[in-house]
Amino acid sequence: MKKVSVLGTGSYIPSRVLTNEDLSKFIETTDEWIVSRTGIKERHIVEDENTCDLAYHSALKAIEAAGIDKDEIDLLIVATFTGDNAFPAVANVLQARLGLREIMAFDMNAECSGFAFALVVAEKMLRSLKMNKALLIGAETISKYTDWSDRNTCVLLGDGAGAVVLGEGSGEIIDTNCYSKGDLNKYLYGAGTPLKSPENNVGNTVGNIEMNGREVFKFATRAIPSSVKSILEENNLQSDDIDLYIFHQANLRIIEKAAKDLGIPMDKVFVNIEKYGNTSAASIAIALDEAVRSGKIKRGDKIVTVAFGAGFTWGTSLIEY
Ligand code: UT7
Repeated sequence: MKKVSVLGTGSYIPSRVLTNEDLSKFIETTDEWIVSRTGIKERHIVEDENTCDLAYHSALKAIEAAGIDKDEIDLLIVATFTGDNAFPAVANVLQARLGLREIMAFDMNAECSGFAFALVVAEKMLRSLKMNKALLIGAETISKYTDWSDRNTCVLLGDGAGAVVLGEGSGEIIDTNCYSKGDLNKYLYGAGTPLKSPENNVGNTVGNIEMNGREVFKFATRAIPSSVKSILEENNLQSDDIDLYIFHQANLRIIEKAAKDLGIPMDKVFVNIEKYGNTSAASIAIALDEAVRSGKIKRGDKIVTVAFGAGFTWGTSLIEY
Protein backbone atom coordinates (compact mmCIF):
# COMPACT_ATOMS: atom_id res chain seq x y z
CA MET A 1 0.00 0.00 0.00
CA LYS A 2 1.43 3.39 -0.96
CA LYS A 3 2.59 5.81 1.75
CA VAL A 4 1.03 9.25 1.75
CA SER A 5 3.36 12.14 2.45
CA VAL A 6 3.06 15.92 2.85
CA LEU A 7 4.62 17.21 -0.40
CA GLY A 8 4.18 20.94 0.17
CA THR A 9 2.45 23.48 2.40
CA GLY A 10 1.10 27.02 1.99
CA SER A 11 -0.86 29.61 3.91
CA TYR A 12 -2.54 32.95 3.38
CA ILE A 13 -3.55 35.52 5.96
CA PRO A 14 -5.75 38.53 5.11
CA SER A 15 -3.94 41.84 5.52
CA ARG A 16 -6.22 43.72 7.95
CA VAL A 17 -4.75 43.44 11.46
CA LEU A 18 -7.00 43.88 14.49
CA THR A 19 -4.95 44.37 17.65
CA ASN A 20 -6.12 43.96 21.23
CA GLU A 21 -5.82 47.73 21.47
CA ASP A 22 -8.23 48.09 18.52
CA LEU A 23 -10.75 45.77 20.23
CA SER A 24 -10.56 47.72 23.48
CA LYS A 25 -11.97 50.74 21.60
CA PHE A 26 -15.37 49.07 21.07
CA ILE A 27 -15.69 46.40 23.80
CA GLU A 28 -14.78 46.45 27.48
CA THR A 29 -11.46 44.65 27.43
CA THR A 30 -7.74 45.28 27.75
CA ASP A 31 -4.60 44.08 26.00
CA GLU A 32 -3.42 42.84 29.41
CA TRP A 33 -6.56 40.66 29.92
CA ILE A 34 -6.45 39.15 26.43
CA VAL A 35 -2.72 38.41 26.47
CA SER A 36 -2.71 36.95 29.98
CA ARG A 37 -5.85 34.79 29.46
CA THR A 38 -5.26 33.70 25.86
CA GLY A 39 -1.78 34.62 24.56
CA ILE A 40 -3.38 36.48 21.62
CA LYS A 41 -1.95 39.91 20.69
CA GLU A 42 -3.62 40.42 17.34
CA ARG A 43 -5.69 38.64 14.71
CA HIS A 44 -6.33 39.26 10.99
CA ILE A 45 -9.77 39.67 9.51
CA VAL A 46 -10.99 39.96 5.94
CA GLU A 47 -12.19 43.18 4.34
CA ASP A 48 -13.48 42.20 0.91
CA GLU A 49 -12.14 38.64 0.60
CA ASN A 50 -14.22 35.55 1.36
CA THR A 51 -13.26 31.98 2.33
CA CYS A 52 -12.72 30.86 -1.27
CA ASP A 53 -10.24 33.73 -1.83
CA LEU A 54 -8.18 32.78 1.23
CA ALA A 55 -8.28 29.10 0.21
CA TYR A 56 -7.18 30.00 -3.34
CA HIS A 57 -4.07 31.92 -2.27
CA SER A 58 -2.99 29.28 0.27
CA ALA A 59 -3.49 26.57 -2.37
CA LEU A 60 -1.25 28.32 -4.93
CA LYS A 61 1.55 28.44 -2.37
CA ALA A 62 1.16 24.77 -1.41
CA ILE A 63 1.14 23.67 -5.08
CA GLU A 64 4.29 25.71 -5.72
CA ALA A 65 6.01 24.32 -2.62
CA ALA A 66 5.11 20.76 -3.63
CA GLY A 67 6.67 21.38 -7.05
CA ILE A 68 3.79 19.69 -8.87
CA ASP A 69 1.66 20.61 -11.85
CA LYS A 70 -1.92 21.42 -10.83
CA ASP A 71 -3.14 18.87 -13.38
CA GLU A 72 -1.70 16.14 -11.14
CA ILE A 73 -4.26 16.88 -8.39
CA ASP A 74 -6.94 14.17 -8.14
CA LEU A 75 -8.82 15.29 -5.03
CA LEU A 76 -9.65 18.63 -3.38
CA ILE A 77 -11.05 18.98 0.14
CA VAL A 78 -11.72 22.30 1.87
CA ALA A 79 -12.26 22.12 5.62
CA THR A 80 -14.45 25.05 6.64
CA PHE A 81 -17.62 26.03 8.43
CA THR A 82 -17.61 29.51 6.90
CA GLY A 83 -18.12 28.86 3.18
CA ASP A 84 -18.95 31.79 0.91
CA ASN A 85 -22.43 30.39 0.22
CA ALA A 86 -24.70 27.73 1.72
CA PHE A 87 -23.99 25.89 -1.51
CA PRO A 88 -22.14 25.02 -3.65
CA ALA A 89 -19.15 23.97 -1.57
CA VAL A 90 -16.07 26.22 -1.54
CA ALA A 91 -14.13 23.28 -3.00
CA ASN A 92 -16.39 23.12 -6.06
CA VAL A 93 -15.88 26.78 -6.88
CA LEU A 94 -12.18 26.53 -6.11
CA GLN A 95 -11.70 23.56 -8.47
CA ALA A 96 -12.60 25.81 -11.39
CA ARG A 97 -10.80 28.88 -10.06
CA LEU A 98 -7.54 26.96 -9.67
CA GLY A 99 -8.04 25.50 -13.15
CA LEU A 100 -7.97 21.93 -11.86
CA ARG A 101 -9.22 18.98 -13.90
CA GLU A 102 -12.79 17.71 -13.27
CA ILE A 103 -11.99 15.96 -10.01
CA MET A 104 -13.82 15.13 -6.78
CA ALA A 105 -14.00 18.33 -4.72
CA PHE A 106 -15.97 18.79 -1.52
CA ASP A 107 -16.09 20.67 1.79
CA MET A 108 -15.82 19.15 5.22
CA ASN A 109 -17.29 20.70 8.34
CA ALA A 110 -15.90 19.48 11.64
CA GLU A 111 -15.42 23.06 12.89
CA CYS A 112 -11.93 23.59 14.35
CA SER A 113 -11.15 19.88 13.81
CA GLY A 114 -12.04 20.11 10.11
CA PHE A 115 -8.48 19.97 8.79
CA ALA A 116 -7.70 16.95 11.01
CA PHE A 117 -10.82 15.13 9.78
CA ALA A 118 -10.04 16.03 6.14
CA LEU A 119 -6.48 14.73 6.53
CA VAL A 120 -7.82 11.30 7.57
CA VAL A 121 -10.25 11.19 4.65
CA ALA A 122 -7.71 12.39 2.06
CA GLU A 123 -5.05 9.98 3.24
CA LYS A 124 -7.42 6.99 3.13
CA MET A 125 -8.77 8.02 -0.30
CA LEU A 126 -5.27 8.31 -1.77
CA ARG A 127 -4.35 4.91 -0.38
CA SER A 128 -7.44 3.07 -1.56
CA LEU A 129 -8.71 4.84 -4.69
CA LYS A 130 -7.11 5.51 -8.07
CA MET A 131 -5.87 8.89 -6.85
CA ASN A 132 -2.28 10.06 -6.46
CA LYS A 133 -2.34 13.61 -5.19
CA ALA A 134 -4.72 15.58 -2.98
CA LEU A 135 -4.99 19.26 -2.18
CA LEU A 136 -6.27 19.80 1.32
CA ILE A 137 -7.15 23.23 2.68
CA GLY A 138 -8.38 24.65 5.99
CA ALA A 139 -9.92 28.09 5.34
CA GLU A 140 -12.13 30.32 7.45
CA THR A 141 -13.67 33.79 7.53
CA ILE A 142 -14.99 33.47 11.08
CA SER A 143 -15.26 37.26 11.35
CA LYS A 144 -18.64 37.09 9.56
CA TYR A 145 -20.06 34.78 12.30
CA THR A 146 -18.52 36.76 15.16
CA ASP A 147 -20.61 38.89 17.49
CA TRP A 148 -18.25 41.86 17.68
CA SER A 149 -20.01 43.09 20.82
CA ASP A 150 -19.38 39.82 22.73
CA ARG A 151 -16.04 40.09 24.52
CA ASN A 152 -16.19 36.42 25.53
CA THR A 153 -15.71 35.27 21.94
CA CYS A 154 -14.67 38.09 19.60
CA VAL A 155 -11.21 38.49 21.15
CA LEU A 156 -10.38 34.86 20.37
CA LEU A 157 -11.09 34.53 16.66
CA GLY A 158 -9.37 35.35 13.37
CA ASP A 159 -9.48 34.61 9.63
CA GLY A 160 -6.94 32.73 7.50
CA ALA A 161 -6.17 29.67 5.39
CA GLY A 162 -3.58 26.91 5.22
CA ALA A 163 -3.07 24.21 2.60
CA VAL A 164 -1.13 21.02 2.01
CA VAL A 165 -0.52 18.86 -1.04
CA LEU A 166 -0.48 15.15 -0.24
CA GLY A 167 1.01 12.38 -2.38
CA GLU A 168 3.70 9.75 -2.48
CA GLY A 169 7.00 11.19 -1.21
CA SER A 170 9.79 10.67 1.29
CA GLY A 171 7.61 11.13 4.39
CA GLU A 172 4.47 9.43 5.63
CA ILE A 173 1.24 10.13 7.45
CA ILE A 174 1.92 7.35 9.94
CA ASP A 175 -1.31 7.35 11.92
CA THR A 176 -4.47 9.41 12.44
CA ASN A 177 -7.59 9.32 14.55
CA CYS A 178 -10.67 11.51 14.91
CA TYR A 179 -13.59 11.55 17.33
CA SER A 180 -16.93 13.27 17.94
CA LYS A 181 -18.79 13.70 21.21
CA GLY A 182 -22.05 15.36 20.26
CA ASP A 183 -23.59 15.57 23.73
CA LEU A 184 -21.33 18.57 24.44
CA ASN A 185 -22.48 20.57 21.37
CA LYS A 186 -24.35 23.08 23.58
CA TYR A 187 -21.03 24.48 24.85
CA LEU A 188 -19.89 25.80 21.43
CA TYR A 189 -22.06 26.36 18.39
CA GLY A 190 -23.13 28.81 15.71
CA ALA A 191 -26.92 28.82 15.30
CA GLY A 192 -28.16 28.08 11.77
CA THR A 193 -30.92 29.79 9.85
CA PRO A 194 -34.38 29.44 11.52
CA LEU A 195 -37.02 27.10 10.09
CA LYS A 196 -39.33 28.57 7.43
CA SER A 197 -42.70 27.63 6.01
CA PRO A 198 -45.21 29.14 3.54
CA GLU A 199 -47.01 30.62 6.59
CA ASN A 200 -43.83 31.95 8.15
CA ASN A 201 -41.65 33.15 5.30
CA VAL A 202 -39.19 35.13 7.44
CA GLY A 203 -35.80 36.31 6.19
CA ASN A 204 -32.78 34.04 6.56
CA THR A 205 -30.36 34.84 9.36
CA VAL A 206 -27.39 32.96 10.69
CA GLY A 207 -26.62 33.21 14.41
CA ASN A 208 -23.41 34.28 16.08
CA ILE A 209 -20.96 31.97 17.78
CA GLU A 210 -22.09 30.96 21.27
CA MET A 211 -19.52 29.52 23.66
CA ASN A 212 -19.07 28.37 27.23
CA GLY A 213 -15.33 29.03 27.38
CA ARG A 214 -14.69 27.19 30.65
CA GLU A 215 -16.28 23.95 29.38
CA VAL A 216 -14.29 24.14 26.12
CA PHE A 217 -11.14 24.78 28.14
CA LYS A 218 -11.79 21.74 30.37
CA PHE A 219 -12.51 19.52 27.38
CA ALA A 220 -9.44 20.67 25.40
CA THR A 221 -7.00 20.25 28.27
CA ARG A 222 -8.20 16.64 28.68
CA ALA A 223 -8.48 15.80 24.96
CA ILE A 224 -4.98 16.92 23.91
CA PRO A 225 -2.95 14.87 26.43
CA SER A 226 -5.10 11.75 26.06
CA SER A 227 -4.95 11.92 22.22
CA VAL A 228 -1.18 12.40 22.22
CA LYS A 229 -0.65 9.57 24.71
CA SER A 230 -2.79 7.13 22.75
CA ILE A 231 -1.26 7.86 19.32
CA LEU A 232 2.26 7.54 20.78
CA GLU A 233 1.39 4.31 22.58
CA GLU A 234 -0.23 2.77 19.50
CA ASN A 235 2.94 3.49 17.52
CA ASN A 236 5.44 2.45 20.23
CA LEU A 237 6.87 5.96 20.50
CA GLN A 238 7.92 8.06 23.51
CA SER A 239 7.04 11.74 23.74
CA ASP A 240 10.67 12.76 23.08
CA ASP A 241 10.71 10.79 19.79
CA ILE A 242 8.58 13.63 18.41
CA ASP A 243 10.40 16.66 17.00
CA LEU A 244 7.48 19.10 17.07
CA TYR A 245 3.96 19.18 18.48
CA ILE A 246 1.33 21.35 16.80
CA PHE A 247 -1.81 21.84 18.88
CA HIS A 248 -4.88 23.80 17.75
CA GLN A 249 -4.12 27.48 18.38
CA ALA A 250 -7.15 28.34 20.53
CA ASN A 251 -5.58 29.54 23.78
CA LEU A 252 -1.93 29.62 24.86
CA ARG A 253 -2.97 28.46 28.36
CA ILE A 254 -4.57 25.33 26.87
CA ILE A 255 -1.41 24.63 24.85
CA GLU A 256 0.88 25.19 27.87
CA LYS A 257 -1.25 23.09 30.23
CA ALA A 258 -1.41 20.20 27.75
CA ALA A 259 2.38 20.36 27.21
CA LYS A 260 3.00 20.43 30.96
CA ASP A 261 0.71 17.45 31.60
CA LEU A 262 2.54 15.52 28.87
CA GLY A 263 5.98 16.55 30.15
CA ILE A 264 6.82 18.14 26.79
CA PRO A 265 9.15 21.20 26.87
CA MET A 266 7.63 24.27 25.22
CA ASP A 267 10.50 24.49 22.71
CA LYS A 268 8.99 21.37 21.10
CA VAL A 269 5.55 22.97 20.86
CA PHE A 270 4.70 25.28 17.97
CA VAL A 271 2.94 28.51 18.90
CA ASN A 272 1.75 31.32 16.60
CA ILE A 273 -1.51 32.19 18.38
CA GLU A 274 -0.20 35.64 19.31
CA LYS A 275 -0.43 36.70 15.62
CA TYR A 276 -3.65 35.07 14.43
CA GLY A 277 -5.87 34.00 17.34
CA ASN A 278 -8.07 30.98 16.68
CA THR A 279 -8.56 30.45 12.93
CA SER A 280 -10.59 27.25 13.42
CA ALA A 281 -10.02 24.69 10.61
CA ALA A 282 -7.16 26.79 9.25
CA SER A 283 -5.23 26.78 12.53
CA ILE A 284 -3.22 23.52 12.22
CA ALA A 285 -2.67 24.05 8.48
CA ILE A 286 -1.28 27.58 8.95
CA ALA A 287 0.91 26.39 11.82
CA LEU A 288 2.24 23.48 9.75
CA ASP A 289 3.16 25.81 6.90
CA GLU A 290 4.87 28.32 9.20
CA ALA A 291 6.77 25.53 10.97
CA VAL A 292 8.01 24.18 7.61
CA ARG A 293 8.93 27.57 6.16
CA SER A 294 10.73 28.71 9.33
CA GLY A 295 12.80 25.50 9.41
CA LYS A 296 11.20 24.21 12.64
CA ILE A 297 10.22 21.07 10.72
CA LYS A 298 12.71 19.37 8.43
CA ARG A 299 12.33 16.36 6.16
CA GLY A 300 12.41 13.20 8.27
CA ASP A 301 11.13 14.92 11.44
CA LYS A 302 8.22 13.37 13.31
CA ILE A 303 5.36 15.67 14.27
CA VAL A 304 2.13 15.23 16.15
CA THR A 305 -0.84 17.52 15.52
CA VAL A 306 -3.97 17.74 17.67
CA ALA A 307 -7.08 19.71 16.73
CA PHE A 308 -10.22 20.17 18.83
CA GLY A 309 -13.42 22.11 18.44
CA ALA A 310 -17.17 22.33 18.49
CA GLY A 311 -19.19 19.14 18.48
CA PHE A 312 -17.13 18.42 20.45
CA THR A 313 -14.72 17.01 17.90
CA TRP A 314 -11.03 16.24 18.06
CA GLY A 315 -8.43 14.69 15.78
CA THR A 316 -4.79 13.69 15.99
CA SER A 317 -2.14 12.88 13.41
CA LEU A 318 1.35 11.44 13.59
CA ILE A 319 3.34 12.53 10.54
CA GLU A 320 6.87 11.91 9.36
CA TYR A 321 7.51 15.03 7.30
O1 UT7 B 1 -11.72 26.08 19.06
C1 UT7 B 1 -12.21 26.08 20.36
C2 UT7 B 1 -12.68 27.47 20.65
N1 UT7 B 1 -12.76 27.93 21.99
C3 UT7 B 1 -11.82 27.81 22.96
O2 UT7 B 1 -10.83 27.15 22.84
C4 UT7 B 1 -12.10 28.56 24.25
C5 UT7 B 1 -11.56 27.89 25.46
N2 UT7 B 1 -11.72 28.73 26.63
C6 UT7 B 1 -10.94 29.80 26.87
O3 UT7 B 1 -10.04 30.07 26.09
C7 UT7 B 1 -11.17 30.62 28.10
O4 UT7 B 1 -12.20 30.01 28.87
C8 UT7 B 1 -11.57 32.11 27.80
C9 UT7 B 1 -10.36 32.83 27.27
C10 UT7 B 1 -12.70 32.16 26.79
C11 UT7 B 1 -12.01 32.81 29.07
O5 UT7 B 1 -10.97 32.76 30.04
P1 UT7 B 1 -11.32 32.40 31.55
O6 UT7 B 1 -10.06 32.50 32.30
O7 UT7 B 1 -12.03 31.06 31.53
O8 UT7 B 1 -12.27 33.58 31.94
P2 UT7 B 1 -13.78 33.49 32.46
O9 UT7 B 1 -14.69 33.10 31.35
O10 UT7 B 1 -13.80 32.68 33.71
O11 UT7 B 1 -14.04 35.00 32.79
C12 UT7 B 1 -13.35 35.66 33.85
C13 UT7 B 1 -13.80 37.11 33.85
C14 UT7 B 1 -15.32 37.28 33.78
O12 UT7 B 1 -15.66 38.37 34.60
P3 UT7 B 1 -16.30 38.13 36.07
O13 UT7 B 1 -17.54 37.35 35.80
O14 UT7 B 1 -15.27 37.35 36.81
O15 UT7 B 1 -16.51 39.52 36.54
C15 UT7 B 1 -15.57 37.63 32.35
O16 UT7 B 1 -16.72 38.41 32.16
O17 UT7 B 1 -13.27 37.79 32.69
C16 UT7 B 1 -14.33 38.45 32.03
N3 UT7 B 1 -14.03 38.50 30.62
C17 UT7 B 1 -13.30 39.49 30.06
N4 UT7 B 1 -12.72 40.58 30.61
C18 UT7 B 1 -12.03 41.38 29.78
C19 UT7 B 1 -14.39 37.62 29.64
N5 UT7 B 1 -13.89 38.03 28.47
C20 UT7 B 1 -13.21 39.19 28.70
C21 UT7 B 1 -12.49 40.06 27.89
N6 UT7 B 1 -11.92 41.13 28.47
N7 UT7 B 1 -12.34 39.87 26.56
